[in-house]
Amino acid sequence: MRSMKIIDTISEIKSQLQGYRKKGKTIGLVPTMGALHDGHAALVKKCVAENDISIVSIFVNPTQFNNKEDLRLYPRTPEKDYKLLQKLGVDYIFSPSVHEMYPEEDKRIFDFGQLDKVMEGEFRPGHFNGVAQIVSKLFKIIEPDNAYFGEKDFQQLAIVKEMVRQLLMPVKIIGIPIVRENSGLAMSSRNQRLSEEQKINASEIYKILLESLSLKSELNPKKLTDHIMEKINRVPGLQVEYFQIVDGDNLQTIDSWNDSDYIVGCIAVFCGDVRLIDNIRYK
Ligand code: PAJ
Repeated sequence: MRSMKIIDTISEIKSQLQGYRKKGKTIGLVPTMGALHDGHAALVKKCVAENDISIVSIFVNPTQFNNKEDLRLYPRTPEKDYKLLQKLGVDYIFSPSVHEMYPEEDKRIFDFGQLDKVMEGEFRPGHFNGVAQIVSKLFKIIEPDNAYFGEKDFQQLAIVKEMVRQLLMPVKIIGIPIVRENSGLAMSSRNQRLSEEQKINASEIYKILLESLSLKSELNPKKLTDHIMEKINRVPGLQVEYFQIVDGDNLQTIDSWNDSDYIVGCIAVFCGDVRLIDNIRYK
């Protein structure tokens, strides 16, 4: 097994990577906030397979949390994460401190047009600005050839692609399909905060989304939206924050199934005080 290095300063990771870049080796990055599960592992496996050198960053980014309690309660399992990443053949873990990444307040404000005004952007104000702050810093430090993001965070993937386009960053963004529990529940670090009963209730989200695929021929997007929200809200302990059927490229709501060739339904649901997101492709 190749040995894996854990690095916590910007200067050290930069100097480690310099030599590889000079030799023309490809560098892949998987940005994470730790508390790793099989969803993250899917991204990491792809990264290890496609690059000479693979790096996983573990950093719970304070600027993307619009809820202090969510930040405080965010699960942290460093030892378990290190073991998993060693097993997967990762070369470097980059796990800087908050001070290392934000020695001073990051005052940058990004403009993603309509992309961050809807869904997560509407209900978590400032969230994507924080994501763009940290991801742009990571890209500047690591200068990866390839970076891997999950389709579970569908809007985040679209925004990272847009950020890279705006900033002319020479990195290829690769999206990876959602990894689910056997029950259908999308894997998430936040699932650790659910009780067994809550997990069973939360697994209804994907079941209802899946069933909805067959209703497309009978119901227009608006009617299907209402139907899904009602059905999920009837499950004990679940409360839908939003469900929107959107064009997968511009994330704007569609009125008719003919409005786009790429259509995705995106949802955020509270299960108790844990906020879960998921999505499903209609077209
Ligand atoms: P985090 O929630 O740790 O997720 C890291 C990456 O794993 C993201 O790209 C996310 O979409 C992906 N991921 C999580 N669960 C997944 C699943 N069930 N299937 C497939 N991919 C999954 O997303 C973040 O961290 C942060 O916002 C970050 C990009 C690291 C910036 O701080």
